[in-house]
Amino acid sequence: QVIDAAGLTVAPGLVDTHVHFRDPGFTHKETIHTGALAAARGGFTSVICMANTSPTVDNVSVLTDILARAGKEDIRIYQAACVSRSLKGQEPVDMEELKSYGACGFTDDGIPIRDAAFLYSAMEKAKELNVPISLHEEDPSFIKNNGINHGNVSDELGIYGSPSIAEESLVARDCLLALRSGADVVIQHISSGRSVNLVRMFKAQGASLHAEATPHHFTLTEDAVLKYGSLAKMNPPLRTEEDRLAVIQGLVDGTIDIIATDHAPHSKEEKARPLTAAPSGITGLETSLALGITSLVRPGHLTLMQLLEKMTVNPAKLYHLPAGKIKEGEAADFVLFDPEECWTPDEYASMSCNTPFTGWKLYGKVKMTICRGKIVYTEG
Ligand code: NCD
Ligand code: ZN
Ligand code: ZN
Repeated sequence: QVIDAAGLTVAPGLVDTHVHFRDPGFTHKETIHTGALAAARGGFTSVICMANTSPTVDNVSVLTDILARAGKEDIRIYQAACVSRSLKGQEPVDMEELKSYGACGFTDDGIPIRDAAFLYSAMEKAKELNVPISLHEEDPSFIKNNGINHGNVSDELGIYGSPSIAEESLVARDCLLALRSGADVVIQHISSGRSVNLVRMFKAQGASLHAEATPHHFTLTEDAVLKYGSLAKMNPPLRTEEDRLAVIQGLVDGTIDIIATDHAPHSKEEKARPLTAAPSGITGLETSLALGITSLVRPGHLTLMQLLEKMTVNPAKLYHLPAGKIKEGEAADFVLFDPEECWTPDEYASMSCNTPFTGWKLYGKVKMTICRGKIVYTEG
């Protein structure tokens, strides 16, 4: 088949190291199938699902059930396992067994680990198994209302919020644990300028640290909560303009090597609850490339090649994904997009539409996604 790609950019299929497909347990928000459709529409051919499903992915039977169903989808779906039983941070999981059944990494995403010694032994094991360990950095003891930055906006709303020190204190701890253990440690959805500085400092000392930035954290600030309400509520929260610019600087100087969506679907009914009661999280797969182009490439922070590195090569290498090892002549994963086309997100393949970016003017439109040599999405 001949594909007319005149005027389009061809890139490797995008890789997202951080998505929530909610399956099993919350399939009114997303399923493996609808998540896969949203991914393909966003240009993604590889995604890594987080483990805060119900039940959580802390044992082989849940893991193999997910991977068996994921294997029937058109894109490559990987699964991270919990770093502790039920994500409670108390009992260990059998990391070796979970890895042997296909877990591509370990994570505490959703419920950060409190016990530093527990986490340190998990890092030692991850190092031995040569798998990344990815961490949600927010110490709950600092937090009164999650999903909203503690600062000017929370003051205006008369609530306390989640201060950046909640994130920074765990980032500092985990930078030390990473340096000492030698494990590949991923700071997930980094949102504070001081967190970025910590990662930069410890990378310079030789820690095998990685960091993910989300499109919402490099595009929006806490002010978005006033405009979009619960659609701008997520953990960690949107912070100040200074923080946003520090995240961009981290992307520019390579401190932050990965762009990941933290695609976190929630239903309309759930997001319609009052701000402090609504669940945290926003969907991201279908707007991620366009937000990267609109917020990072067009203003001149990154070249298109640098953006694509953080959405393809870097994540594929870190997680040892086959997408990073396709040889000449093999069926490949790639995406065709128009980096100049202006469009407005207004409907989604995802089962949920909890994004503040609906109605925005974005640049960069995915036209076709090809995975394992098969067309898995065509525009229109
Ligand atoms: C995520 C979710 O909804 O599962 N929510 C969020 O606000 N980011 C959990 C997470 O990524 O920590
Ligand atoms: Zn998280
Ligand atoms: Zn997440």
